Amino acid sequence: MGGLFGRGALRGLLCGPRAPGPSLRARPSSVSQTLKRGPSWTRERTLVAVKPDGVQRRLVGDVIQRFERRGFKLVGMKMLQAPESILAEHYHDLRRKPFYPALISYMSSGPVVAMVWEGPNVVCTSRAMIGHTDAAEAAPGTIRGDFSIHISRNVIHASDSVEGAQREIQLWFQSGELVDWADEGHHSSTYPA
Ligand code: PPS
Repeated sequence: MGGLFGRGALRGLLCGPRAPGPSLRARPSSVSQTLKRGPSWTRERTLVAVKPDGVQRRLVGDVIQRFERRGFKLVGMKMLQAPESILAEHYHDLRRKPFYPALISYMSSGPVVAMVWEGPNVVCTSRAMIGHTDAAEAAPGTIRGDFSIHISRNVIHASDSVEGAQREIQLWFQSGELVDWADEGHHSSTYPA
Protein backbone atom coordinates (compact mmCIF):
# COMPACT_ATOMS: atom_id res chain seq x y z
CA MET A 1 0.00 0.00 0.00
CA GLY A 2 1.12 3.54 -0.72
CA GLY A 3 1.25 6.33 1.87
CA LEU A 4 -1.54 8.74 2.64
CA PHE A 5 -1.49 10.12 -0.89
CA GLY A 6 -0.16 6.98 -2.58
CA ARG A 7 -1.96 5.22 -5.42
CA GLY A 8 -3.81 2.90 -3.10
CA ALA A 9 -5.07 5.68 -0.85
CA LEU A 10 -6.23 7.73 -3.82
CA ARG A 11 -7.77 4.75 -5.61
CA GLY A 12 -9.57 3.88 -2.42
CA LEU A 13 -11.17 7.30 -2.25
CA LEU A 14 -11.61 8.55 -5.80
CA CYS A 15 -13.16 7.52 -9.07
CA GLY A 16 -10.90 7.25 -12.08
CA PRO A 17 -11.08 9.40 -15.19
CA ARG A 18 -14.57 9.74 -16.57
CA ALA A 19 -14.52 9.38 -20.33
CA PRO A 20 -17.12 6.84 -21.41
CA GLY A 21 -16.57 5.02 -24.66
CA PRO A 22 -19.19 5.10 -27.39
CA SER A 23 -20.96 1.94 -26.27
CA LEU A 24 -21.64 3.44 -22.86
CA ARG A 25 -23.17 6.63 -24.26
CA ALA A 26 -26.85 6.28 -25.01
CA ARG A 27 -28.56 9.63 -25.16
CA PRO A 28 -31.99 9.45 -26.75
CA SER A 29 -32.18 12.24 -29.30
CA SER A 30 -35.89 13.15 -29.23
CA VAL A 31 -38.78 13.43 -26.81
CA SER A 32 -40.45 10.35 -28.28
CA GLN A 33 -37.22 8.41 -27.93
CA THR A 34 -36.93 9.65 -24.36
CA LEU A 35 -40.42 8.39 -23.60
CA LYS A 36 -39.72 5.07 -25.30
CA ARG A 37 -36.18 4.43 -24.16
CA GLY A 38 -35.70 6.35 -20.94
CA PRO A 39 -34.20 9.60 -19.69
CA SER A 40 -31.51 11.66 -21.41
CA TRP A 41 -28.67 11.03 -18.98
CA THR A 42 -25.53 9.39 -20.25
CA ARG A 43 -25.94 5.68 -19.66
CA GLU A 44 -23.21 4.29 -17.49
CA ARG A 45 -22.62 0.77 -16.25
CA THR A 46 -20.31 -0.70 -13.65
CA LEU A 47 -19.20 -4.09 -12.42
CA VAL A 48 -19.88 -4.89 -8.79
CA ALA A 49 -18.82 -8.22 -7.31
CA VAL A 50 -19.62 -9.58 -3.88
CA LYS A 51 -16.40 -11.36 -2.93
CA PRO A 52 -16.27 -14.84 -1.34
CA ASP A 53 -16.31 -13.46 2.23
CA GLY A 54 -19.42 -11.41 1.41
CA VAL A 55 -21.19 -14.46 -0.03
CA GLN A 56 -20.21 -16.63 2.97
CA ARG A 57 -21.53 -13.96 5.32
CA ARG A 58 -24.91 -13.77 3.50
CA LEU A 59 -24.38 -10.14 2.49
CA VAL A 60 -25.53 -10.49 -1.14
CA GLY A 61 -29.09 -9.40 -0.37
CA ASP A 62 -27.95 -6.36 1.57
CA VAL A 63 -25.70 -5.27 -1.28
CA ILE A 64 -28.47 -5.64 -3.85
CA GLN A 65 -30.90 -3.78 -1.62
CA ARG A 66 -28.52 -0.82 -1.23
CA PHE A 67 -28.05 -0.47 -5.00
CA GLU A 68 -31.76 -0.87 -5.72
CA ARG A 69 -32.77 1.62 -3.03
CA ARG A 70 -30.31 4.13 -4.44
CA GLY A 71 -32.19 3.83 -7.73
CA PHE A 72 -29.71 1.89 -9.85
CA LYS A 73 -30.86 -0.74 -12.30
CA LEU A 74 -29.60 -4.31 -12.23
CA VAL A 75 -28.87 -5.43 -15.80
CA GLY A 76 -26.75 -8.54 -15.16
CA MET A 77 -26.06 -10.93 -12.30
CA LYS A 78 -24.50 -14.37 -11.83
CA MET A 79 -22.90 -16.48 -9.14
CA LEU A 80 -19.72 -18.23 -10.15
CA GLN A 81 -16.58 -19.83 -8.87
CA ALA A 82 -14.25 -17.36 -10.57
CA PRO A 83 -11.79 -19.14 -12.89
CA GLU A 84 -8.16 -18.24 -12.34
CA SER A 85 -7.99 -16.92 -15.93
CA ILE A 86 -10.60 -14.24 -15.14
CA LEU A 87 -8.97 -13.35 -11.83
CA ALA A 88 -5.52 -13.10 -13.41
CA GLU A 89 -6.88 -10.73 -16.06
CA HIS A 90 -8.99 -8.77 -13.60
CA TYR A 91 -6.06 -8.18 -11.21
CA HIS A 92 -3.38 -8.00 -13.93
CA ASP A 93 -2.13 -4.58 -12.73
CA LEU A 94 -1.50 -6.00 -9.24
CA ARG A 95 0.47 -9.09 -10.33
CA ARG A 96 3.73 -7.84 -8.84
CA LYS A 97 2.24 -6.78 -5.51
CA PRO A 98 3.29 -8.83 -2.49
CA PHE A 99 -0.35 -9.52 -1.63
CA TYR A 100 -1.22 -10.79 -5.14
CA PRO A 101 -1.01 -14.56 -4.38
CA ALA A 102 -3.14 -14.11 -1.25
CA LEU A 103 -5.63 -12.00 -3.20
CA ILE A 104 -6.04 -14.65 -5.92
CA SER A 105 -6.31 -17.40 -3.31
CA TYR A 106 -8.97 -15.44 -1.40
CA MET A 107 -10.93 -14.67 -4.56
CA SER A 108 -10.80 -18.38 -5.47
CA SER A 109 -11.85 -19.57 -2.02
CA GLY A 110 -15.57 -19.61 -2.82
CA PRO A 111 -18.20 -18.28 -5.19
CA VAL A 112 -18.54 -14.61 -6.03
CA VAL A 113 -21.70 -12.82 -7.16
CA ALA A 114 -20.93 -10.59 -10.12
CA MET A 115 -23.40 -7.89 -11.09
CA VAL A 116 -23.72 -5.12 -13.64
CA TRP A 117 -25.52 -2.00 -12.42
CA GLU A 118 -26.66 0.87 -14.60
CA GLY A 119 -27.52 4.51 -13.91
CA PRO A 120 -26.23 8.07 -13.97
CA ASN A 121 -22.71 8.29 -12.46
CA VAL A 122 -22.99 4.69 -11.28
CA VAL A 123 -19.20 4.15 -11.37
CA CYS A 124 -18.40 7.03 -9.04
CA THR A 125 -21.45 6.59 -6.83
CA SER A 126 -20.88 2.87 -6.34
CA ARG A 127 -17.29 3.55 -5.25
CA ALA A 128 -18.67 5.95 -2.64
CA MET A 129 -21.28 3.38 -1.58
CA ILE A 130 -18.77 0.57 -1.08
CA GLY A 131 -16.30 2.78 0.83
CA HIS A 132 -12.54 2.95 1.08
CA THR A 133 -10.57 -0.08 -0.19
CA ASP A 134 -8.85 -0.34 3.18
CA ALA A 135 -11.73 -1.32 5.41
CA ALA A 136 -9.98 0.25 8.39
CA GLU A 137 -10.51 3.63 6.70
CA ALA A 138 -13.99 2.99 5.31
CA ALA A 139 -16.65 5.32 6.69
CA PRO A 140 -19.59 3.90 8.63
CA GLY A 141 -22.61 3.69 6.34
CA THR A 142 -20.55 2.39 3.44
CA ILE A 143 -20.64 -1.33 2.69
CA ARG A 144 -17.04 -1.88 3.78
CA GLY A 145 -17.45 0.53 6.69
CA ASP A 146 -20.40 -1.51 7.93
CA PHE A 147 -19.14 -5.05 7.28
CA SER A 148 -15.36 -5.20 7.02
CA ILE A 149 -12.37 -4.51 9.22
CA HIS A 150 -9.45 -5.65 7.03
CA ILE A 151 -8.39 -4.88 3.46
CA SER A 152 -7.82 -8.56 2.70
CA ARG A 153 -11.50 -9.36 3.43
CA ASN A 154 -13.25 -6.28 2.13
CA VAL A 155 -16.50 -7.94 0.97
CA ILE A 156 -17.01 -6.22 -2.36
CA HIS A 157 -15.42 -4.94 -5.54
CA ALA A 158 -16.61 -2.10 -7.77
CA SER A 159 -14.94 -0.76 -10.92
CA ASP A 160 -12.87 2.35 -10.31
CA SER A 161 -13.36 4.15 -13.65
CA VAL A 162 -15.69 4.14 -16.62
CA GLU A 163 -13.00 2.56 -18.82
CA GLY A 164 -12.24 0.00 -16.13
CA ALA A 165 -15.93 -0.82 -15.83
CA GLN A 166 -16.23 -1.41 -19.56
CA ARG A 167 -13.19 -3.72 -19.51
CA GLU A 168 -14.35 -5.62 -16.42
CA ILE A 169 -17.93 -6.06 -17.67
CA GLN A 170 -16.59 -7.58 -20.90
CA LEU A 171 -14.30 -9.84 -18.89
CA TRP A 172 -16.96 -11.18 -16.52
CA PHE A 173 -20.05 -11.19 -18.78
CA GLN A 174 -20.96 -12.26 -22.30
CA SER A 175 -23.03 -9.57 -24.01
CA GLY A 176 -26.03 -11.95 -24.11
CA GLU A 177 -25.96 -12.18 -20.32
CA LEU A 178 -26.85 -8.50 -19.93
CA VAL A 179 -30.51 -7.55 -20.08
CA ASP A 180 -31.49 -4.17 -21.50
CA TRP A 181 -34.89 -3.96 -19.83
CA ALA A 182 -37.17 -0.92 -19.76
CA ASP A 183 -38.03 0.30 -16.27
CA GLU A 184 -41.45 1.62 -17.25
CA GLY A 185 -42.26 4.81 -15.41
CA HIS A 186 -39.85 4.16 -12.55
CA HIS A 187 -37.00 6.33 -13.82
CA SER A 188 -39.06 9.52 -13.83
CA SER A 189 -39.42 9.36 -10.06
CA THR A 190 -35.78 8.37 -9.50
CA TYR A 191 -33.87 10.81 -11.72
CA PRO A 192 -34.82 13.62 -14.10
CA ALA A 193 -35.44 12.97 -17.78
S1 PPS B 1 -2.68 -0.88 -4.77
O1 PPS B 1 -1.62 -1.59 -4.07
O2 PPS B 1 -2.78 0.49 -4.32
O3 PPS B 1 -2.60 -0.97 -6.23
O4 PPS B 1 -4.00 -1.64 -4.35
P1 PPS B 1 -5.43 -1.05 -4.07
O5 PPS B 1 -5.87 -0.14 -5.17
O6 PPS B 1 -5.47 -0.48 -2.69
O7 PPS B 1 -6.28 -2.36 -4.11
C1 PPS B 1 -6.45 -3.07 -5.30
C2 PPS B 1 -7.12 -4.39 -4.99
O8 PPS B 1 -6.23 -5.19 -4.22
C3 PPS B 1 -6.88 -5.57 -3.00
N1 PPS B 1 -5.88 -5.54 -1.94
C4 PPS B 1 -5.61 -6.57 -1.16
N2 PPS B 1 -6.08 -7.81 -1.12
C5 PPS B 1 -5.56 -8.65 -0.18
N3 PPS B 1 -4.62 -8.28 0.72
C6 PPS B 1 -4.11 -7.04 0.71
N4 PPS B 1 -3.17 -6.70 1.59
C7 PPS B 1 -4.61 -6.12 -0.26
N5 PPS B 1 -4.34 -4.82 -0.57
C8 PPS B 1 -5.13 -4.49 -1.59
C9 PPS B 1 -7.96 -4.56 -2.77
O9 PPS B 1 -9.02 -5.10 -2.02
C10 PPS B 1 -8.40 -4.24 -4.17
O10 PPS B 1 -9.29 -5.24 -4.63
P2 PPS B 1 -10.62 -4.87 -5.40
O11 PPS B 1 -11.23 -6.18 -5.79
O12 PPS B 1 -10.21 -4.04 -6.59
O13 PPS B 1 -11.47 -4.13 -4.42
